[in-house]
Amino acid sequence: MQTVPFANGDAMPQLGLGTWKAAPGVVGAAVAEALRLGYRHIDCAHIYGNEAEVGQALAEAFRAGLKREDVWITSKLWNDAHAPDDVRPALEHTLKNLGLDALDLYLIHWPVAHKRGTVMPETAADFVDPDDLPLSTTWAAMETLVDQGLTRHAGVSNISVPRLRALVEGARHVPEVNQIELHPYLQQADMLAFCRDAGVHLTAYSPLGSSDRPAMLRGENEPVLLEDPTVAAVAARHGASPAQVLIAWALRRGTSVIPKSVNPARLAQNLAAAGLALNDEDMTALAALDRGVRYVSGDFWVFPGGPHTLETLWGEA
Ligand code: A2P
Repeated sequence: MQTVPFANGDAMPQLGLGTWKAAPGVVGAAVAEALRLGYRHIDCAHIYGNEAEVGQALAEAFRAGLKREDVWITSKLWNDAHAPDDVRPALEHTLKNLGLDALDLYLIHWPVAHKRGTVMPETAADFVDPDDLPLSTTWAAMETLVDQGLTRHAGVSNISVPRLRALVEGARHVPEVNQIELHPYLQQADMLAFCRDAGVHLTAYSPLGSSDRPAMLRGENEPVLLEDPTVAAVAARHGASPAQVLIAWALRRGTSVIPKSVNPARLAQNLAAAGLALNDEDMTALAALDRGVRYVSGDFWVFPGGPHTLETLWGEA
């Protein structure tokens, strides 16, 4: 398995397991099976509502001999804990659920702050205005967590290039990772180029198109990435599956990638994609699929009179 090198010598396995949408009651078995198959990178988040069960699966694997230092664990700070005093307790809660002393990577999940106690906003009043609680303030609290050894690395998620540039310029510890939606329908070449120059690593979420998203996160007539004819043609050339092509595409671009599965056969298939080498002809064909399709649109943060618009989230604003 290829790894992503960090400045302090740590190495993150490039292919990990996504746990968003892996339901409680199911996620534990999926993590256990993934670790058995050889996954050594598990991507978690408080808001997924399943970290305690992930923690139980990890504890079982550690009891069976897996070493803590041999598995990379990421989690994410939810939007209701952006106030500096709330950041450390949020991480401690996640560590307790996961049964860990420290994370490998902790990310600010969204550049969106809710009032304390608001899990999902229902009105514009549920947000904290970014002028009152700038992302840079939350980032400073994340830096302290690195100083305190509660996470080895810190980063962000769902951050646009202008916001990332501003954070990088003002940071004491540069965000080491930005985790964003990336797949052939949303290739984000500008982001890739910026991160390459700035030394920020990109992790690709929803690499398979996240077709199991809840209804409230689905648009009408969305194109189905796993059914794309070009992806299918590349897959056929290699005797691989479409999912394997999508994972191999992400790996060849140098990003890490966290496909979610709770199915043992698909977990194995996805891990095997690390051995699929796409050639230049494949990459050229897949490059032509770029079409700005954002499956996780962010429109759930947009309310009349609220502080966020799709332009401020993803645009050059
Ligand atoms: P399942 O968990 O039943 O395997 P994403 O990683 O983009 O969020 O996509 C996750 C979705 O893709 C889930 O519905 C998952 O279902 C499905 N999936 C995962 N691996 C594969 C695969 N190899 N082939 C087809 N679908 C897959």
